[in-house]
Amino acid sequence: MNEQNIPEKFKIKPQHSNHYLINGELRKWDGNTTEVYSVIKTPNKQGEIGPTFLGTVPDMGEKTALEAVESANKAYNRGKGAWPTMSVSDRLKCMEIFVEKMKLHREEVVKLLMWEICKNKTDSYKEFDRTIDYILNTIEAYKNIDRKGAKFDSQDGVLAHIRRGPIGVVLCLGPYNYPLNETFCLLIPAIIMGNTAIFKPAKIGVLLITPLLKAFQESFPPGVVNILFGRGRSIASPIMKTGIIDVMALIGHSSSAVSLQDLHPNKNRLRLVLGLEAKNPGIVLPDADLEHAVKECISGSLSFNGQRCTALKVLYVHESIVNSFNELFTKAVDNLKFGMPWEDTFLTPLPEKSKPEYIQELISDATKYGAKVINKKGGELSDNFSFPAVLYPVNDKMRLFHEEQFGPIIPIIPYTDIDMPLNDMAASNYGQQVSLFGENIDDLGPLIDALANLVCRVNLNSACQRGPDVYPFAGRKNSAVSTLSVYDALRSFSIRTFVAAKNSSKNKKIIENLLDSKVSNFVTTEYLL
Ligand code: G3H
Repeated sequence: MNEQNIPEKFKIKPQHSNHYLINGELRKWDGNTTEVYSVIKTPNKQGEIGPTFLGTVPDMGEKTALEAVESANKAYNRGKGAWPTMSVSDRLKCMEIFVEKMKLHREEVVKLLMWEICKNKTDSYKEFDRTIDYILNTIEAYKNIDRKGAKFDSQDGVLAHIRRGPIGVVLCLGPYNYPLNETFCLLIPAIIMGNTAIFKPAKIGVLLITPLLKAFQESFPPGVVNILFGRGRSIASPIMKTGIIDVMALIGHSSSAVSLQDLHPNKNRLRLVLGLEAKNPGIVLPDADLEHAVKECISGSLSFNGQRCTALKVLYVHESIVNSFNELFTKAVDNLKFGMPWEDTFLTPLPEKSKPEYIQELISDATKYGAKVINKKGGELSDNFSFPAVLYPVNDKMRLFHEEQFGPIIPIIPYTDIDMPLNDMAASNYGQQVSLFGENIDDLGPLIDALANLVCRVNLNSACQRGPDVYPFAGRKNSAVSTLSVYDALRSFSIRTFVAAKNSSKNKKIIENLLDSKVSNFVTTEYLL
């Protein structure tokens, strides 16, 4: 990449990030560090072209991980801490302060998203803005939940004041493809409900968190948010072994979730909030509007180069239309533009160094079992990119049929009997979403009835996606545990807890006094505006 072709605004200088957040202190790190590189190549000081050096981040280990656990545990203080006992309105004020401070870092974070994970400019801005909206919507959703609890029920002579309370200490681990948005979709609802948290950024997309450390420090009481840097196995493993974690919130692979969960000495009391792998199918019925289906399958399978858990990762196309579909689809794929994130092209470099090689492995495995790359540019390699490859016909002998490719390679499977995709879905380890393309309601109706029981969202003539964030984001089998959405996440990170009293005149008087005096933040009928 010639430096002159990079817009001034998006040029980057290495930054050495040596702070982390524990117990409300931005502590300076003097230990080992990890160098962060972008796969985007630029000339170094000696003029040699290579991966761009973006800076360094701390490489922490067990000692610091345990300090973070101690800090989060102290702030929670078995439910007695200032944060879990604080009034909801005061917690919301802290979050409002945070979101205002966060907004100030939009440009820095977006630039780092482009360099670290190579997300294109539009989608990088979208990720930041969507996260801000998510926080603001979460504040409103919590007010709504709280308003519903601002009353006493009376049943069979028992008065009850039912609310939602925090669970305890949360470990938050996010993914590299949405290092800001998906991580904050865990962290924000977790803390707003009164939990305390330890958060470690993903393996790629780390520097972009550093501009926000101060905002976290200045907005929340000490120990509520603790931020560490380093490898999962050096940080998350010792944290889980302490048994202090009450909720493990992770967006990533089920194998990581299972091995971390196994380290907890009291698994029965560990709550899981997990967004995991998926292999969402697109099913194209004989009467589908082909041009429209192709358009949706392109965005569904190749937005952010296919690196989305919601991406369409296998296409089942009815045999009667598969040739026409393949012709239109391969042409559309070959017309996609590849470029640098700031050029705002649809296709951008792959941030994981090993991904192009993995894609090539999948291609050679599939071709061994009879598939062909059917688009002209499919699999063409450059330094940090493998052009999207469309493989046809794919079958269950191939790795591509089973593995979540999470990259630019699209398997197409012809079918004659609709039971074939349905049976494959039932046998698969995944169950997140499906896209169904067709128009005849007599076919669609019974299919939707079956599909809704195999996945958690049936997208009609539309690509799979998580948003809008107010809708439930869930999955069956290996694809998720718990439901996330602006509203559901607040439930996932809390538990119903209540005060009950026999309806005697003495108890009524005590409750009236509690309400009038405002000495309890829990027993309150204050209506949040
Ligand atoms: O990686 C999985 C994300 O949750 C997908 O979200 O559908 O908004 O891209 P998205």
